[in-house]
Amino acid sequence: MDISVTIGNILEQQTDGIVLNLFEGVDAPGGATGAADRALNGGIRSLIADGDFTGKFKQTSVLYPPGGIPAKRVILVGLGKQEAFTLDHVRQVSSVAAQQARKLGINSLTTIVHGGGAGGLHAADAAQAVVEGTVLGTYRFSHYKTGDQDDGNDLDRLTLVEFDAAKQAEVERGALIGQIVADGTCLARDLVSHPGNEMPPTVLAERAREMADGVGLSCDVLDETRIAEEGMRTLLAVAQGSAQPPRFIVLEHDGGKTHGPPVVLIGKGITFDTGGISIKGAEGMWDMKFDMGGAAAVIGAMQATARLNLPVRTVGLVAASENMPGSRALKPGDIIRSMLGKTIEIRSTDAEGRLVLADAITYAARYKPAAAIDLATLTGACIIALGHEASGLISNNDGLADEVARAGGRTGEIAWCLPILEGHREQIKSDIADIKNTGGRPAGAITGAAFIEAFVQDFPWAHLDIAGTAWTDKDRPYIPRGGTGWGVRLLVDFLRNRA
Ligand code: BES
Ligand code: MN
Ligand code: ZN
Repeated sequence: MDISVTIGNILEQQTDGIVLNLFEGVDAPGGATGAADRALNGGIRSLIADGDFTGKFKQTSVLYPPGGIPAKRVILVGLGKQEAFTLDHVRQVSSVAAQQARKLGINSLTTIVHGGGAGGLHAADAAQAVVEGTVLGTYRFSHYKTGDQDDGNDLDRLTLVEFDAAKQAEVERGALIGQIVADGTCLARDLVSHPGNEMPPTVLAERAREMADGVGLSCDVLDETRIAEEGMRTLLAVAQGSAQPPRFIVLEHDGGKTHGPPVVLIGKGITFDTGGISIKGAEGMWDMKFDMGGAAAVIGAMQATARLNLPVRTVGLVAASENMPGSRALKPGDIIRSMLGKTIEIRSTDAEGRLVLADAITYAARYKPAAAIDLATLTGACIIALGHEASGLISNNDGLADEVARAGGRTGEIAWCLPILEGHREQIKSDIADIKNTGGRPAGAITGAAFIEAFVQDFPWAHLDIAGTAWTDKDRPYIPRGGTGWGVRLLVDFLRNRA
């Protein structure tokens, strides 16, 4: 989508449609909406007076000006109650307006910056949210639809109009950040939505490399030989049942003049999880193509980090493998010696995410991370705990947990803290090895994290269990059905906040 910023009066814009807004309960609109009302001979006030438009959150109404202003249509969108208004409301109404515009066949949409005026938000934040809501809300994954791929109904162009020339630089900056962050999120969504046959570890690594080349990130892809040389035996163990070889992807953003320890982002990249010998049931197994949602989030966030040229050293690591049964597959009862040297008793080959993350987090230690954040579709138990409304957040450092949770609060990606208590660590003690890879049914999301924690060597670490959030079966505000790209915006916000 082409995105641009214009300084001036939105009512003077020659366009297919302009988007204006109204807070709930306002009967005499001011600002651009008030001016539009006058140009429409009181048309908006009568909509309000007749009760046809109340400004209720996400309500829309389309008006066709009979001359007076050059725009063909006015799309009015309700902002809801002013006292409840947040940045996420901006994303949501922007998405609703864009979807409405697309339904009307509008290719080029012009909007005011919701929340920048009476909403009282910072102009840059508001502009960023408008762009995010528009791009993310009109995203679709049509790669495998033959024929009518582009039904001519795609929104190709968005123009943000700001009246106050003093805000130009801020609005432009916010719009650019929004576009970059939304692009990174859409990249992650695409990667997640591609099926397992099209996105095995080798292809995921190729996509990461293409991305890196495109934005000037350094990228090193370790094949099975180099993975073995590094001693990443847990990754090899998970991969050994598959004809598809594993890959370990290393992306590095040097952060310009900044030195010092980097932030390391780590993604679980299981491109398909059958469960292995501890095989899953047939019901819903196709879902397990999204078991690389953590990897996708890391790749999307690294793209955005490079394009924004954030002054923070950032490393992205992805442990990519299939988890398949087969004559060479890992078996329950097997014992693996991890890269760190700890021995692991395999109780379930379906608890494979924590295995590949164990060696990934050991690899991360060489960077002496300022912070390491892993993202993983790790446990069904996390979905039982939090549903699809939030990701589980578990950390060995309260300050880092707070930073991550706050970033998610700002981006609308809720990360909810769970504890690791001594008893949880007991659950994964093994009789025969140093640790076992399952801890039984109780607190499954926590014991999964406790397993990873056992491989963290004295640096601040946070784990995000995105099993419930990486994919959505129902359309959500600015998140259509499919891969969600959950975590990209949170990670970028986290990094921007560190910068
Ligand atoms: N990838 C799954 C977790 C998952 C389940 C993600 C549903 C998204 C939706 C993971 O590898 C897994 O199979 N976990 C097991 C762990 C158990 C064997 C300890 C689980 O959650 O059942
Ligand atoms: Mn599994
Ligand atoms: Zn898995």
